[in-house]
Amino acid sequence: MAEFRLPKNSRIKAGGHFKDSTSEGLKTVYIYRWDPDTGDNPRLDRYDVDTKACGPMVLDILIHIKNSMDSTLTFRRSCREGICGSCSMNINGENSLACITSALENKGDIKVYPLPHMSVVKDLVVDLSNFYAQYTSIKPWLQSDSPSPDRERLQSEEERSRLDGLYECILCACCSTSCPSYWWNGDRYLGPAALLQAYRWIADSRDDFTGERLDQLDDAFKLYRCHTIMNCTRTCPKGLNPAKSIAQIKQAIQERK
Ligand code: SF4
Ligand code: SF4
Ligand code: FES
Repeated sequence: MAEFRLPKNSRIKAGGHFKDSTSEGLKTVYIYRWDPDTGDNPRLDRYDVDTKACGPMVLDILIHIKNSMDSTLTFRRSCREGICGSCSMNINGENSLACITSALENKGDIKVYPLPHMSVVKDLVVDLSNFYAQYTSIKPWLQSDSPSPDRERLQSEEERSRLDGLYECILCACCSTSCPSYWWNGDRYLGPAALLQAYRWIADSRDDFTGERLDQLDDAFKLYRCHTIMNCTRTCPKGLNPAKSIAQIKQAIQERK
């Protein structure tokens, strides 16, 4: 009989327990910890956090823990307002941005893990090298045959509106790392984030390389590993719809055949 077990050194153990010096308004937060320099298994540390000592978002709690309880905790963040995409992580089972996820709406404990199915660099930081290389591969810049004009390339209001729901993507990777097809084939399937970005340039009236872009995407793995499971659209913290963009790319390829 087939046996599926995690490798011994990847099993998560119970970790340390840190507590703020108050007995009221404590919120329990469990955080995945792993330090490649120690050679130890990953662990789940427990922090009982004084919510009156920090802001209301999960990122506020992480910053409070780092500043006041345990300076070894490692995570990414920058803008603190849902713009940079740095603080993506798995919070209570859902990929989201820690800076715009309320820690107080949920009355129970909070569990924070790195984005799923990614190589962990340390604690909550994952390796996004492949994700960024895939983004680079779709050539995310304007390509035009015509010589550079001496003023802006103009669009009608209708042409510009085709970019709505696309240009807002902040490349946080919440969608791609929630996609089962990306979990299994992330080396060859581009994933919803890179495909939404690819469609952003296909939809742009100023770009003259639509044919070449579709040629590049017309591939059993790069595009057609999407099986319309829709996790990507459900999880996007910016309310975007990568699954729709993927369907629009498939439709564009179909219509030109
Ligand atoms: S589509 Fe949404 S979830 Fe995916 S990378 Fe862009 S902003 Fe993040
Ligand atoms: S719709 Fe496609 S890209 Fe989105 S989660 Fe499903 S398989 Fe992945
Ligand atoms: S810190 Fe920039 S999106 Fe959260």
